[in-house]
Amino acid sequence: MNKRLGVLTSGGDCPGLNAVLRGLVRTATNLEWEVIGFHDGFEGLLGDGRWEALTMQRTSGIMQLGGTIIGTTNKGHFIAKVDAGSRTHVPRAAIEEARATLYRLRIDALVVVGGDGSLTTAQQLFEAGIPTIGVPKTIDNDLESTSMTFGFDSAVACVADSLDRLHTTASSHKRVMVIEVMGRHAGWIALYGGLAGGADIILIPEITFDCEKVAQAIRDRETMGCLSSLVVVAEGAKARNGKEFTQEKGSGEYKLGGIGEFVAREIARRTGKETRTCVLGHLQRGGAPTTMDRILGTRFGVKAAELVNERRFGQMVSYQNEEVHSVPISQAVHRLRLVPPRGQMVATARAVGISFGD
Ligand code: F6P
Repeated sequence: MNKRLGVLTSGGDCPGLNAVLRGLVRTATNLEWEVIGFHDGFEGLLGDGRWEALTMQRTSGIMQLGGTIIGTTNKGHFIAKVDAGSRTHVPRAAIEEARATLYRLRIDALVVVGGDGSLTTAQQLFEAGIPTIGVPKTIDNDLESTSMTFGFDSAVACVADSLDRLHTTASSHKRVMVIEVMGRHAGWIALYGGLAGGADIILIPEITFDCEKVAQAIRDRETMGCLSSLVVVAEGAKARNGKEFTQEKGSGEYKLGGIGEFVAREIARRTGKETRTCVLGHLQRGGAPTTMDRILGTRFGVKAAELVNERRFGQMVSYQNEEVHSVPISQAVHRLRLVPPRGQMVATARAVGISFGD
């Protein structure tokens, strides 16, 4: 009888998840493992279990699809992390229900594809004795212990494409366009997307900005004859003496968002320039993965299957120095990888005249 592994995708979806599933299934099948895909993240482990067999046929032709064919959720019974820094424990009853489902289905290993929160849950399952492997996933690219996550490149491509579009309308109307992008407490998407899309000002959580300096950068551009400007603001950016902008998600939970409007209002008030805001939102998470993300996702899926086969549980796939390795999940969670304000990327952006409003 074949060995069996289970896989689930958890947290916010991101381009490249299906490439991971395809890479995992192909490698696992070659190593004589059957793959069971649980639906809607950890929730699929509850009760009788909600799952399907992931075969070569089922995972054929899915690499170019956005989202995840087995569904996901960032809510439910297994939440182990509420926000940056705050952690809770997954209820014992949920862990025991998951264990019973895996036992009933004769599953020897569980692969969890998720971000910081889902990997925190994965670590708790591992500590409870469930053989677990982690695969890092997030468009935010903010996970410690992996220099790159799939989904990031696709999000950056979306920001760059949007800036290209905003550029023509901004210059036609001689306006300032403010584009608010995702990334939670990290400015990677704003920095890379802004650089690739020719932004004039980039505001990131790691560098507190001053509204007057932002306005001055726009005035300086006017003096040089540049009558339109593109401003990229990360959803987690903060003005000097300001706070993070949040919006209620429902059931008392909050998510970052809303700073774009604030920045646009301040620019208009201080410069007199006509200013518009565009909140890019979930467009950054949807659609086909870039070739980079297809390749990285495939490599992560292959490595996850190999780690299962070698029974190296408690490990998370990690990308370092252009090679795919693994690190203990415990080492990778709870620490955000932020943009170094004095790093080469920020210096490069400054060198081409981008202002960080500081
Ligand atoms: O972590 C990925 C991410 O897209 C963040 O960049 C963003 O803040 C958040 O998820 C949005 O979450 P939701 O899908 O719940 O609105």
